[in-house]
Amino acid sequence: MQTQEFQQQSILITGGTSGIGLASAQAFLQKGAKCVYITGRDKQKLDQAQSLLGSKAVAIQADVAQLGEIDIVKRCIEQRGDQLDVVFANAGIAENNVIGTTSEQQFDAMFDTNVKGVFFTVQSVLPLIRQGGNIILNASVAANKGMTNLSVYSASKAAVRSFARTWCSDLKERKIRVNTISPGVTSTPILQTGLQMTETHIAELTNYLSAVVPAARMAQAEEIAAAVVFLASPSASFVNGVELSVDGGFAQV
Ligand SMILES: NC(=O)c1ccc[n+]([C@@H]2O[C@H](COP(=O)([O-])OP(=O)(O)OC[C@H]3O[C@@H](n4cnc5c(N)ncnc54)[C@H](OP(=O)(O)O)[C@@H]3O)[C@@H](O)[C@H]2O)c1
Repeated sequence: MQTQEFQQQSILITGGTSGIGLASAQAFLQKGAKCVYITGRDKQKLDQAQSLLGSKAVAIQADVAQLGEIDIVKRCIEQRGDQLDVVFANAGIAENNVIGTTSEQQFDAMFDTNVKGVFFTVQSVLPLIRQGGNIILNASVAANKGMTNLSVYSASKAAVRSFARTWCSDLKERKIRVNTISPGVTSTPILQTGLQMTETHIAELTNYLSAVVPAARMAQAEEIAAAVVFLASPSASFVNGVELSVDGGFAQV
């Protein structure tokens, strides 16, 4: 439904070209956002997202794992004379790793994107965030569950959840709220591109989730986006430092 809850607001979503980030960009625009900045590494995906989202979206090619590229995002927003009301630090990668054969390269790739990328994105754009703004970090149900062959990814997401605890205190003078979202398994391209799942694997995962998740299914990206929008909204004005699990109950039972 079209509302004007985020009228005059500018939103930055890292990894806004696909999955949860793209669904969140659409949700903020549907709720009247003035401008949604989306980032990603792949130019083709950026172009596709830009044409889907329309003229209120600004697509910026930048890798969150590269500090110099994070700075490009900041400069782009500054050059437009804009400030930020909401930052959704969403960009992340997921790969399986087997303890015993995990390479340093695998470890660094996940921590560089999921932890360093979140930290330096927020640090870089902090001067542009308005008093009373909102930061939302994307962690994962994996931060709270011991899922086989996901130790590096899960640890990276536990670090993300931790940032929200400290930053909500660090930023209290500026009345910036910092919250974490922890999605359960969500139907996005990361399942194929990151976790290398085939259709058979996804069918097996779907069966497994129907047995162990109270909601008995995986999430759609739009369901996670709705929770992100809630955390950024005045309805969540006293919600600060939390981890909001949007996992159909997976980590709660
Ligand atoms: N899907 C799930 O089951 C699930 C569950 C819990 C948490 N999450 C988290 O949700 C977030 C979004 O994932 P998704 O499921 O929506 O996956 P997705 O569809 O693969 O989207 C990932 C987005 O992040 C971007 N990205 C990846 N690495 C990046 C980098 N180094 N710099 C900038 N952008 C980067 C991707 O674009 P490029 O590849 O073009 O850079 C893409 O826009 C991730 O942090 C993920 O860990 C997902």
